[in-house]
Amino acid sequence: MGKPLFDRDGHQCILYTDLCEDEGGAAVQANQCLIVDAGQAILLDPGGTMTYNELYMELTKVTSPKKLKYVFASHADPDIIASLPRWLSSSDTRLLVSRVWARFVPHFCPSGKTDGRIVPIPDRGGVISLGNCRLTLLPAHFLHAEGNLQVYDPTSRILFSGDLGASLLPAARAADIVEDLGPHLQYMTDFHRRYMTSNRACRLWANMVRKMQIEMLVPQHGAPLVGKAVDQFIEWIAELNCGIDLMTEADYQVPPDDKLLGAPA
Ligand SMILES: [Fe+2]
Ligand SMILES: [Fe+2]
Repeated sequence: MGKPLFDRDGHQCILYTDLCEDEGGAAVQANQCLIVDAGQAILLDPGGTMTYNELYMELTKVTSPKKLKYVFASHADPDIIASLPRWLSSSDTRLLVSRVWARFVPHFCPSGKTDGRIVPIPDRGGVISLGNCRLTLLPAHFLHAEGNLQVYDPTSRILFSGDLGASLLPAARAADIVEDLGPHLQYMTDFHRRYMTSNRACRLWANMVRKMQIEMLVPQHGAPLVGKAVDQFIEWIAELNCGIDLMTEADYQVPPDDKLLGAPA
């Protein structure tokens, strides 16, 4: 079910946290977001095939999915955009994705399906129009993918931050709103240490967003951060050592051949 994050004067932001139909529980919880302005809609990080059917049904409550203006992919991971072939078939949408991935995504779509429908986002990002509003596409490269962008909505002052700011929570808790980062860090730390590339990228990103007015940060996994927790997150990530900062020679050793992966225990 969609959770409205903002709804004023024909501008809506809706968060979906519980649409992953994974009976085995092996798939990571993932969020999807919809922004609608004056009847036009953009879907952010719509997810994989598990999410598609329910998300489509949810969209019919708010807008006509067939007329979707854009699908935005923060990067090209399967939990972000594996459902792209379904959205291209069922709607008139175009895909906004980093120029780094624009020529890779056709590999998981039927031949010809993406022709003229992929809008490559330059490395420095840019601005798009939706209905009567504008949305900013912010660079967040290496946080975590090589070509990685985020959506900032100046109307709601929400930053949709993709994998940055993610927390690994059960679906039932992903719609909770976090107001204080302290108790929440236990769900974020391991993820950011491994999936974010380096402190250099974190610091450059923090320097950029400190100047912005952000009331809420909505990641692609786990709970949104609001108010003070947003500022706390920016300062925390600016200091975090992660990714290649933590790699040592011990992480690059030829594995011993006496244990076979996938063998019965
Ligand atoms: Fe990812
Ligand atoms: Fe993700």
